[in-house]
Amino acid sequence: MKVIGVPSDKDGIIVDELERQLMKHVSELPPPTDMKPYSAMLYCVPTFNNPTGSCLPPEQCKKMINLMRKYNVLAFCDDVYNLLSYTGDKPPPQRLYAFDDKSNADYKGNVISNGSFSKFLAPGLRLGWMEVPERVRCLLQKSAYAIGGGCFNHYLSCIIAVALQEGLVKDHLSMVRKVLEVQLNALCNALNKYIPEGQISYQRPKGGYFVWVTFPPEVDCDKLFKICLEKYLVEFNYGSHFAASSGKFKNCMRLCFAFNECDIIEHCVKQIALSLKELVG
Ligand SMILES: Cc1ncc(COP(=O)(O)O)c(C=O)c1O
Repeated sequence: MKVIGVPSDKDGIIVDELERQLMKHVSELPPPTDMKPYSAMLYCVPTFNNPTGSCLPPEQCKKMINLMRKYNVLAFCDDVYNLLSYTGDKPPPQRLYAFDDKSNADYKGNVISNGSFSKFLAPGLRLGWMEVPERVRCLLQKSAYAIGGGCFNHYLSCIIAVALQEGLVKDHLSMVRKVLEVQLNALCNALNKYIPEGQISYQRPKGGYFVWVTFPPEVDCDKLFKICLEKYLVEFNYGSHFAASSGKFKNCMRLCFAFNECDIIEHCVKQIALSLKELVG
């Protein structure tokens, strides 16, 4: 596979940049066949992005669908955080899948939406779901992935199917959303409290697991990580981990608020602030 990174901004993938890349590489794209009906695949996390927490606005989603159709690309949306929204009773943002409107004259089905129970029922469940266009469903159904011995986990599927029918999954999801929102607030409050104002910027996510933090350019988070882990016993994901090309996002970090309770979150931010002070004064 030839993998090409597409830059993103505070709203997620930069759709104009995606178009530039598609135009640049279009002559190299293989023509579609019955078995491989798409010329390329775009992997993306349009809602509550990992690592940035961003959400692609509706206007950009519409532009994206036009591009997917024009260049015959399949958008594989990793929508695993979509149900984890912290906006009260407001429904989560519409997935890109919803914008691939079946009533359009040029509809062919260019989006897959991928969901996971691991993110709100229990980690490591290894069970999820896919919402796919008909032409993808036909291919998947015949694939070794669906019919071989290493196929979907039917046993766990049956257990979760019953939990869904009994309304248990819905209740659990509501509880998890409440808990995670409280933890998100704890993280944001701690960042505001312990890190000096001019040294940090971040966008409070409306859902998901992560806050993407940006420090001034001179803050090297690879070095910060070392200090923080060795001296203060706290780990975070440093920004360079997430760069498609080396040298990027060195002054950024991804903080996860999903795992720890509020007092631990506050303690960890305090330790990160102490490490930062040690690194840049
Ligand atoms: C965007 C995204 N997709 C998929 C996964 C993995 O999901 P699962 O635990 O269901 O394998 C993760 C987990 O970190 C993720 O962030």
